[in-house]
Amino acid sequence: MELEKCIMGRRSVRSYQDKPVPEEEIKKILKAGAMAPSAMNRESPQYIVITNKEKIRELSDKVKDKAGVIGLGAKIAEKMKVKEDVIFYGAPLLVLLVGDKEKWTAIDCALAAENMMLRAYGLGIGSCYIGFMNFIGDERETLKSIGIKDSQELYCPLIFGYPKDWPGPKTREPKIQKRID
Ligand SMILES: Cc1cc2nc3c(=O)[nH]c(=O)nc-3n(C[C@H](O)[C@H](O)[C@H](O)COP(=O)(O)O)c2cc1C
Repeated sequence: MELEKCIMGRRSVRSYQDKPVPEEEIKKILKAGAMAPSAMNRESPQYIVITNKEKIRELSDKVKDKAGVIGLGAKIAEKMKVKEDVIFYGAPLLVLLVGDKEKWTAIDCALAAENMMLRAYGLGIGSCYIGFMNFIGDERETLKSIGIKDSQELYCPLIFGYPKDWPGPKTREPKIQKRID
């Protein structure tokens, strides 16, 4: 798909078919992350790929439990009480961008994340950035259980999968604060 169409058409997808993302598509998405720029070309993002449904569900429940106790607004706390996977929306693929706790890693990961979401969209695969997962960003035992080292931080949690429905297009305008010509 043309780059312009990817940029203009990508939206966050919050409902997924129960259909795995094929391995070759996962590879393409990861490759798009790897091709992103990084500070001093350190290529700092590392990828944890989770396709195990039970593990994704378990993580979702942990995030929901945590969200219920960290004093979010009543509306969000209420949303977390349901049985459904309101964190990862039933997505069959969770990719965690992690890296060492160093100055530029968060930015490197964010750039890689957008590359990945755009590439996925071009492949007909939906995605969403799941900041809610950072509620368990300090639960080292849980993070360790999914391969995140103590020296690392969880930066960008992303979900991918085939959408039940594609959200419609949306347009936004740049908020130009100032121009100096
Ligand atoms: C840092 C960050 C955290 C986000 N966290 C969540 C999240 O936890 N759950 C969710 O459903 N969407 C999350 N989103 C998606 C945003 O809500 C979404 O990008 C925004 O509403 C714009 O919609 P669009 O992506 O469809 O253009 C997050 C996006 C970003 C960049």
